[in-house]
Amino acid sequence: MGETIKGLERTHKCAHLGLENLGQEVVLMGWAQKRRDLGGVIFIDLRDISGIVQVVFSAEISKAVFEKAESIRSEYVLAVVGNIVKRDPETVNPNLQTGEIEVKVTQLRILSEAQTPPFYIEEDTDTNEKIRLEYRYLDLRRPDMQKNLMLRHKVAKISRDYFDENGFMEIETPMLTKSTPEGARDYLVPSRVHPGKFYALPQSPQIYKQLLMLSGMDRYFQIVKCFRDEDLRADRQPEFTQIDVEMSFVDVDDVLSINEKLMATIFKETKGIDLATPFLRIPYQEAMDRFGSDKPDIRFGMELVDVSDIVAGSGFKVFADTVAKGGSVRVINAKNSMDKFARRDLDKLVDFVKTYRAKGMAWIVVTENELKSPITKFFKEEEIQAILDKTGAEPGDILMFVADQNQVVYDALGNLRLELAKRLDLIPENEYKFLWVTDFPLLEYDEEEKRYAAKHHPFTSPMEEDIALLDTEPSKVRAKAYDIVLNGVEIGGGSIRIHNTELQQKMFETLGFSKEEAWERFGFLMEAFKYGTPPHGGIAYGLDRLVMLLAGCDSIRDVIAFPKVQNASELMIHSPAQVEPKQLKELHIKSS
Ligand code: AMO
Ligand code: AMP
Repeated sequence: MGETIKGLERTHKCAHLGLENLGQEVVLMGWAQKRRDLGGVIFIDLRDISGIVQVVFSAEISKAVFEKAESIRSEYVLAVVGNIVKRDPETVNPNLQTGEIEVKVTQLRILSEAQTPPFYIEEDTDTNEKIRLEYRYLDLRRPDMQKNLMLRHKVAKISRDYFDENGFMEIETPMLTKSTPEGARDYLVPSRVHPGKFYALPQSPQIYKQLLMLSGMDRYFQIVKCFRDEDLRADRQPEFTQIDVEMSFVDVDDVLSINEKLMATIFKETKGIDLATPFLRIPYQEAMDRFGSDKPDIRFGMELVDVSDIVAGSGFKVFADTVAKGGSVRVINAKNSMDKFARRDLDKLVDFVKTYRAKGMAWIVVTENELKSPITKFFKEEEIQAILDKTGAEPGDILMFVADQNQVVYDALGNLRLELAKRLDLIPENEYKFLWVTDFPLLEYDEEEKRYAAKHHPFTSPMEEDIALLDTEPSKVRAKAYDIVLNGVEIGGGSIRIHNTELQQKMFETLGFSKEEAWERFGFLMEAFKYGTPPHGGIAYGLDRLVMLLAGCDSIRDVIAFPKVQNASELMIHSPAQVEPKQLKELHIKSS
């Protein structure tokens, strides 16, 4: 039997073999996951993209092949020829898809040797992420990472098919472009040809996709990289991928409905789940009042309760003064939590809300016989009764109060609600709760800059009935903007756009641009609007976030092949990196 296998052609993937292949001769290629020597017999788990199959080398079949197999170490790359046989009943491995069979090897070729890897290639590794990212090419050999990337591929493919079937065209837009105001810092690329000038990498294709509507493309989508130089978190990367969408001749309902169908298709085809449509819609203000968040996780209750009216006239100065100054006092009822939170745990929760700028957190522990609390002494009996009634308090519950200006209360209690849900184990696994948050404010006031900023982006259309308020009470103007939220994560956002020059110019003025500045930066868009512009609107999804949720991961890094870490560097390829002085000189940049 020849040792070298010439003209080998792979016949199967490892895990695609089963009892139906009994007796067949197969050619497999893959990595040696694990070797077990049982004196005269060697078992190797052979792994490829599909999974694992056990291959067996025995001195009885071929001494030469057997001796060669003795040199195999973890992660060697092998080609084997062998026959599929049934395992003895006592050696069947029910944990392995191919556990009922094994491959008796007749020929072996070692395609590549391997050093001992820095960590074992296995599912659910506890290797720290830094090492995994330094050796990402090895980390990506792990089955869970391969599954995540397959899922990502599938979601992209389903989306492309869906959009194609619904009359959308995928059109590429430039990567070397000009600043697009999505609110983050730009990544800049110096121009060699134009000294002192820079391209900006797109924060999104926003302006281009609008211009494509103006060009009559009717419906556009693109799966596209976007770049934002912002502080990274578990669900934020400096470069991330959007499923970007724009449609002509539409209003809010049209955009939402086509997107609900997209989500339903993705969930059906990847998870076999039938999503109920239409999704729940909650106006922004209601989301804030009920959940303290514009991306509420509605898999559990524990909503905020406003008790401002009850405590406004009370003897507790902290509460009464807050209400008098236009703030509010709100409560979370942590039901049945009395046994979970001792006094010192409550102190820790006070520290927790303080990280969200709250000044304190008062509490009432409701027991069978009494109320334990540092604040009940300040209230009249009927005030306390009104609080207990409004919050539905029962023995075993703890009421947690924050008094402050609204934004601080929302932030503190919104985050406390999530923290309590985790600690009290209230979040059901494998449930997917979608909702649209609608009616966002068009603007938000930037205290530092002392001016208004666009809440979504400056191309978002105000609601027609609120346009007049732009001159009088800009903060009251509502936008035709919407976010799609899944399990407390903002997976996408969009709006109906402004499509006439005057309103766009007015919007820029409201944002503090002079007419000249507005025309200098966005003149091409306002000029374009003069040539016949269809009403249009769209949305963009964070593909990474969507896939993260589908894969059940906590970080988008686990669904990106080569992600960056917190400080925006990539640990494997070591970017960013220094460049040659000559390159800088060509780019007219002085190196420091
Ligand atoms: P927006 O800025 O809301 O809208 O972005 C759309 C979606 O992209 C995802 N996302 C991110 N994901 C990972 N890392 C990031 N740094 C990051 N930033 C955003 C989020 C978000 O919901 N042009 C508009 C869309 C439109 O109006 O059509 C836009 O970009 O899931
Ligand atoms: P003090 O009067 O500062 O001792 O506060 C009495 C209780 O009220 C303590 O439990 C504080 O944590 C709480 N408290 C103080 N400020 C606030 C606030 N802004 N919101 C909610 N509770 C507060």
